[in-house]
Amino acid sequence: MSVTILGIESSCDDTSAAVIRDGVVLSNIIAAQAVHEAYGGVVPELASRAHQQHIVPVVDRALKEAGIGKGALDAVAFTRGPGLMGSLLVGTSFAKGLSAALGIPMIDVNHLQAHVLAHFIKQAPEATRQPSFPFLCLLVSGGNSQIIRVDGYRDMTVVGQTIDDAAGEAFDKCAKVMGLGYPGGPLVNRLANEGNPKAFTFSKPHIPGYNYSFSGLKTSFLYTLRDRLKEDPGFIEKNKADLCASLQATVVDILMDKLRKAAKELKIKEVALAGGVSANTGLREAFDEHAKRYGWNIHIPPFAFTTDNAAMVAICGYYKYLDGAFCTMDAVPFSRAVI
Ligand code: KG4
Repeated sequence: MSVTILGIESSCDDTSAAVIRDGVVLSNIIAAQAVHEAYGGVVPELASRAHQQHIVPVVDRALKEAGIGKGALDAVAFTRGPGLMGSLLVGTSFAKGLSAALGIPMIDVNHLQAHVLAHFIKQAPEATRQPSFPFLCLLVSGGNSQIIRVDGYRDMTVVGQTIDDAAGEAFDKCAKVMGLGYPGGPLVNRLANEGNPKAFTFSKPHIPGYNYSFSGLKTSFLYTLRDRLKEDPGFIEKNKADLCASLQATVVDILMDKLRKAAKELKIKEVALAGGVSANTGLREAFDEHAKRYGWNIHIPPFAFTTDNAAMVAICGYYKYLDGAFCTMDAVPFSRAVI
C-alpha cells in the first residue's frame, strides 16, 4: 500500500509544503521571507503574517509539482514546535482545516526530529545512502545546537545541547556587529574562505559533558572589536576576512570537540550533520577530516533538506503514519521543547 503525506513547515521564517510518497520526495516548495532583512533578524509578528499570505499558494504549488490532487493525500503532517508561536499557529491551523475538510489524519511533528530524519528523504525510489542506527546527529541551526543519539526513526535522545546561544546565532550576531547583512552565517562563510583562520584567537567554553556554549565566544569577539577599534577605526574593514575565518574556525572547533568526545565515549562512528549551519564549508571540511582520521562514516544531506523545509516534516510524518501515531484536533503548538 502506497502512503502519500503532505508536510507543512512554518516554525520560523520559511513557509514550506512538500509531498512525500513512500519516503520519496515528489515536491518541496519553500517561500522565504525577505521582509526580515531590513531588521537584521526575524520579526515574529511579520513572520506570522507572511506565513498567512504564503501558505495557500505554497501548498497549491507543492501538490501541482507532485502531480497529485488533494484527494490523493493519506495524511497531513505539520510542525507543532519548537518555533515561534505565531508562525507555528498558521501551519497548525491550516493542517487542522485540511485534515477536517478531507477527512484524513493529522500528524504533529517535532521540528528537531524532522531535521534529523531529513537524512532519510529519498530523491528517487531506489535506495539512497542513509545512516544506520545507532548514529549521532549534530543538529546546528539558528535556534539549536544539539548532539542527538538516534537509535530508531522515533527513538532519539539529546545527549548534549547549548546552554545559551546556538551556533547559527553566534554567526549571525557576530556578523551583525561587523555590519554584515542578515542572515550572517553564509556571509561569514564566504569571507572566511579568503581569510586566515589563525589571525585572531577567541575564547572557547570549558563546560563539562557534551553541552555547548557560544555566549563567551560572542563576548570575546565583541571585546576584540571594541579594543582594536579604539586603536584603528578602520579595523573591521581591513580585517573582515581574517575575523570571519578566525570566528568560523573557533565555532567549528567548539562543535567538533564535543562531537568527537561523544563519538569516542559512546563508541559510535556513524555521524550525521543536520540544520542550516551544515551548509558551512568549514564544518563540512571538519567532518571530512574526522571521517578520514577517526574512521567515521559521515552523512550530510543535500542542501535543500538542511535548512527549514517541509520534506523533512513529511518524512517524519511518514514514519509516524506507519506507526499510527496521529494527533487530535486539540493539538496546540509549543514554542520550546527538547526531543
Ligand atoms: O536551520 P535553519 O535554516 O533555520 C533556523 O534555525 O532558523 O538555520 C539558519 C541558520 C542561520 O543562523 C544562518 O546564519 C545559518 O543557519 N547558516 C550558516 C550558513 N548557512 C546558513 N552558518 C554558517 N555558514 C553557512 N554557510
